[in-house]
Amino acid sequence: MRDAAPETVYLKDYKPFGYVVDSVHLTFDLAPNATRVTSRIAFSPNPEAEDRTFFLFGEKLKLIRATIDGKDITPEITPEGLTAAAPDAPFIWEAEVEIDPAGNTALEGLYMSNGMYCTQCEAEGFRKITYYPDRPDVMSVFTVRINGDLPVLLSNGNPTGQGEGWAEWHDPWPKPSYLFALVAGDLVATEDSFPTISGQEVALKLWVRPGDEHKTAFGMEALKKSMKWDEDSYGREYDLKVFNIVAVDDFNMGAMENKGLNIFNSSCVLASPDTSTDMNFERIEAIIAHEYFHNWTGDRITCRDWFQLCLKEGLTVFRDSQFTADMRSAPVKRIHDVIDLRTRQFPEDNGPLSHPVRPESFQEINNFYTATVYEKGAEVIGMLKRLVGDAAYAEALDLYFARHDGQACTIEDWLKVFEDVTGRDLTQFKRWYSQSGTPRVKVTEDWADGTYTLSFEQTTLPTPGQPEKLPQVLPIAVGLIGPNGDELLETTVLEMTEAKQSFSFDGLPARPVPSILRGFSAPVILERESTNSERAFLLAHDTDPFNRWEAGRALAQDTLLKMATGTTDPDADYLDGLRALMRDETLDPAYRALMLGLPGQAELAGLLADRGVTPDPMAIWQAVEHLRDAQAQALGPLLEELYEANQVTDPYQPDAEQSGKRALAGALLRLITRRDGGARASALYAAADNMTLTLTALSCLLQAGQGGAELAAFYDKWKDDRLVIDKWFMLQIAEAAPERAVSVAQALTEHPDFNWRNPNRFRAVFGALSANHAGFHDATGAGYQLLADWLIRLDPLNPQTTARMCTAFQTWKRYDPARQAKIAVELDRIATTPDLSRDTSEMISRIRG
Ligand code: PHE
Ligand code: ZN
Repeated sequence: MRDAAPETVYLKDYKPFGYVVDSVHLTFDLAPNATRVTSRIAFSPNPEAEDRTFFLFGEKLKLIRATIDGKDITPEITPEGLTAAAPDAPFIWEAEVEIDPAGNTALEGLYMSNGMYCTQCEAEGFRKITYYPDRPDVMSVFTVRINGDLPVLLSNGNPTGQGEGWAEWHDPWPKPSYLFALVAGDLVATEDSFPTISGQEVALKLWVRPGDEHKTAFGMEALKKSMKWDEDSYGREYDLKVFNIVAVDDFNMGAMENKGLNIFNSSCVLASPDTSTDMNFERIEAIIAHEYFHNWTGDRITCRDWFQLCLKEGLTVFRDSQFTADMRSAPVKRIHDVIDLRTRQFPEDNGPLSHPVRPESFQEINNFYTATVYEKGAEVIGMLKRLVGDAAYAEALDLYFARHDGQACTIEDWLKVFEDVTGRDLTQFKRWYSQSGTPRVKVTEDWADGTYTLSFEQTTLPTPGQPEKLPQVLPIAVGLIGPNGDELLETTVLEMTEAKQSFSFDGLPARPVPSILRGFSAPVILERESTNSERAFLLAHDTDPFNRWEAGRALAQDTLLKMATGTTDPDADYLDGLRALMRDETLDPAYRALMLGLPGQAELAGLLADRGVTPDPMAIWQAVEHLRDAQAQALGPLLEELYEANQVTDPYQPDAEQSGKRALAGALLRLITRRDGGARASALYAAADNMTLTLTALSCLLQAGQGGAELAAFYDKWKDDRLVIDKWFMLQIAEAAPERAVSVAQALTEHPDFNWRNPNRFRAVFGALSANHAGFHDATGAGYQLLADWLIRLDPLNPQTTARMCTAFQTWKRYDPARQAKIAVELDRIATTPDLSRDTSEMISRIRG
């Protein structure tokens, strides 16, 4: 018997299911509050399993009847599922259950969004649709019949028949239940087609609610580019007659790779120049690619159990990064990814939620769709590729697809193909999957008789459940630069395997300046004594675009940390270097825009805490303000000059080139606004003919404490567009001065459009509040309290989104005792809420520590 108390699941306890599923037939009779799901499942004993317990997962299901080989049975039912006596021979299971899609606010299983039926089954949502061995290693062929009085009825695979009020689908590819999908509603499609490399014509359809048709063109182009890229780069061809994408307004995550029927949060697929920013376009292109790439890395080859999540996610994120790098600028993409890693993954890896890329236990798997599994998981694959080289990587991938097609695999399977192709022993490399925490690498150097020596020492601090750490394999890409700025050693990958290791370079004419960790070749924290003049030298001369940016970042960071803890002036080397770079017309505008960027305030707080200094959010905010003023001062008239030079005159395109110019002009306008009181930003707001420029102008005005009239006009113009109104909510909080952020957020929660059951709207408000560092950490604790109030309110309806939002508190131990005490009160208040979900209680107890 199972009980309802949260159980911990362990990787080491994996056992195959006692039966294999030979086929699945599902019939849906749709009705908002009483949908009937009839299942007919052919089971046979699994020769690979010993235990023949016939347990089927099932949650919130009303069982109408169940039969085995046509005979009625009375299974033993618990809140988690049912157990029945099953034969040790092939048999047919049939069951009929009733579910309530309209009452499903958790957005897992079958639910309704704006009158449309849709499903979300990853990770464990299928068990809310019918009784089933809902685990990724049970794969089967699904045939689905949908009966419903709606114009569009979709499921996985190929359509096999349809008529008034019904449709049938058959998916020939065996799949786990988490990839099942069904959509039914009043939808319209944008249609296109793609000829695959072997000449199969695939019908492409992007389904939206009527009224959103004008936002589909970009997504369709992105899909075709993705299909072509996966053929060209990985030799992966699509394998069904149709590929459907559906946009859904209420969705917990970004998108879902259901076989042949990808379902997207509408914010991650719908785009038009009027309503989407350049950043939205880039992100949408990447997510469409990501979900499409899952067809091979996720669907054809899936995960044995949820501990192996990074097998599909790390690899697919790595693949979508490669795609974006190819479609746009590789250095810019790399810098964006590292910024993202430092913003989201490093705090996770170095705080109470730290877990390995392949976790070893969990209570609620939904809590492990994390930056560590996804982004660090992708970094691990990048390191593997760097270590074995591009050719061996390609060979290993071919072997992976050939050997494991149709299987549910593990990280061991993945690493084995690399071992087989290269003859390497990856035992030590595997620590990247099992050890949590970000390695810190200390670098010292030595110069004598023409020989230059770099010495590295790696340590990883203890993390929850892992007091001791072993050395990891680190690919450290280095280059050496001579005093005159010439490169003395081109990028070379040093392979560090020991706790301490030295590498020497001889025959050098003069002591070089090292450029270490080029391209961010390993996801580590580099610790090296350096001077600002050396950083300025690298900023001027490094041939590696990532490290050149990194040198500027280090200068900015160093000066900000000093400013946040004392009364120092901004560093002159930094401002001089910045001015020189801004003038360098050989540098891509997107790259120069990144150069103007500063480390985030939360990141600075983390760096201070790392140095044993308690961060003061207001002091950090002031330091950033002060440095922004200093940038504006130092760049002077160059700001206007470059602003004019980077205007786009051609018709709007969301491509890399135009986006880069707009990003640079936008960053410049923020500085100009500090000097001209908002004159240019107002002019831009009036003239803007696309959402990127509109939002740039509006955010400049808000930051300058203006923009009230524009904000009202913006609302009036866009009040019927949910995705644009999400931006309207978000922007006001993001740009609010720290002392106003909480009250702005609080007031917005009373706005009639604050539809808090919609995850996008909830995140627009509370994601923005927690990202406004000094605002959220307002010394009164009002930010903590507001967030906790709403988490408590949302939890009974939508545990998954509530639990994700709890991460706002994950860094709480960094702050002063007064703030910590205030946060502890809120964490305890959430933890003691009656009937708290398993999702949220697991998160809060891990964060509370
Ligand atoms: N598997 C999805 C992706 O990475 C993410 C997701 C997880 C979506 C769980 C919904 C639920 O693309
Ligand atoms: Zn994914």
